[in-house]
Amino acid sequence: MGEQAQKTLRLVLVPFPYQGHISPMLQLGAALHSKGFSITIAHTICNSPNSQNHPNFSFLRLSDGLSDTDIESRGLAANLLAINDNCKESFQWSLEQLIMEDRKTISCVISDELMYFAEDVANNLKILSIILRTTSAITSLARSFLLKLVEGGHVPLQGFASDELVARLPLLRFKDLPCPLTENFKSFAVIVARAYNKRTCSAIIWNTINCLEQSTLDQIQKESQVRIFAIGPMHKITPSISSSLIKEDRSCISWLDKQPHNSVVYVSISGSIASLYEKEVTEMAWGLANSKQAFLWAIRPGSIRGSDWIELLPNGFQDAVGDKGCIVSWAPQKEVLAHPAVGGFWSHCGWNSTLESLAQGVPMICKPCFGDQRVNARYASHVWKVGLELEEVERGEIARVVRRLILCEEGKEIRARAKKLKQKIDVSTRKGGSSYDSLNQLANFILSL
Ligand code: UDX
Repeated sequence: MGEQAQKTLRLVLVPFPYQGHISPMLQLGAALHSKGFSITIAHTICNSPNSQNHPNFSFLRLSDGLSDTDIESRGLAANLLAINDNCKESFQWSLEQLIMEDRKTISCVISDELMYFAEDVANNLKILSIILRTTSAITSLARSFLLKLVEGGHVPLQGFASDELVARLPLLRFKDLPCPLTENFKSFAVIVARAYNKRTCSAIIWNTINCLEQSTLDQIQKESQVRIFAIGPMHKITPSISSSLIKEDRSCISWLDKQPHNSVVYVSISGSIASLYEKEVTEMAWGLANSKQAFLWAIRPGSIRGSDWIELLPNGFQDAVGDKGCIVSWAPQKEVLAHPAVGGFWSHCGWNSTLESLAQGVPMICKPCFGDQRVNARYASHVWKVGLELEEVERGEIARVVRRLILCEEGKEIRARAKKLKQKIDVSTRKGGSSYDSLNQLANFILSL
């Protein structure tokens, strides 16, 4: 079918309204738009994407029933369950309107794996559906394993702390299992069961790369009834688009311009969801100061418990570091990671951050907060061997790990491995590479549905 004909085919994309989920979905939209499809984004009112940044897309607002404060104040699991309950009716109504009014055919609904209501609606309206998984592939095996443990009543209230290896998940320890932030395993089990048990979708799109997860993807494909398309890292596959929900502070780029190559540690460890206690922030601050290395620290407003932004940083810290430190509320992260001054990324290992770091060949300091970040941290440090694990948020340990990465021979070797992996990732996204081909196969697959 020609590109013109494809333009009459509409894809309705349904992101989960958190930064780490919205970005890959919008990137996927841009990639499929470049293949000639018409793209509609069905989004919640809370955390809605800025439509002005995406003139090629059309938008549908779904009534999510959440107040402005709900999304911040309630837990992730509570929001997720509420969104799935509240948006279903509104989504069905909006699609029915679209079908009546529109000259374009809705060929498919593509929804985040957590927005399972969208798949139910697609089934009701006899529209095919595809899901997008925004985590690593190994995370899904780990979550399924954890779900079995939950169902068998084997999960301790605090999650796991053991270094024992999980027999069926190579190199993962029990303490790396993707346990939720709170001890609310009941909601977690409901969500994971909905996300992984018996889906009715026609295919799965994965923001991962064969060169990172070939054997895991093969195993999942073998056990799956539907085709899997690994087309990551999506931010490299697509033309660059802005999907940030928070205004980026670009002043840090001119600060980076003044720093020597590979000298700066970029620090961003709360991602779009996690938060830190004052005690952890104090240890981080003095650990960075004591390392005597330059750092760029992105601290999301509200991510330090009990404060609006950086009011709880320890007294004397900013004077102690002077020009060696730069703090911003939200960094243009992909641009930062591409900057030659950046020699390491201390990350919470959210999957987007991990992919962005790997795709730029930046070695990592891995300190996960919760969930899939634990799995990603373990893989970055022990499978791909492009990072150091930070065991404890304690100032002495932090200063040691930063200096090992930036100054020591060990750090140079890790950086060399990260650069090699970057080259493999580059190949995957170029013509003839696995992710490039997979995107074309996905476009053909949608046309064949
Ligand atoms: C969570 C999960 O841990 C992750 O694996 C899942 O896929 C999405 O939700 P999150 O906390 O959102 O992760 O982190 P991450 O996946 O790393 O996404 C954060 C995004 O925000 C990244 O794309 C990063 O580039 C961006 N970011 C972060 C900025 O642009 N600026 C910042 O200062 C900090």
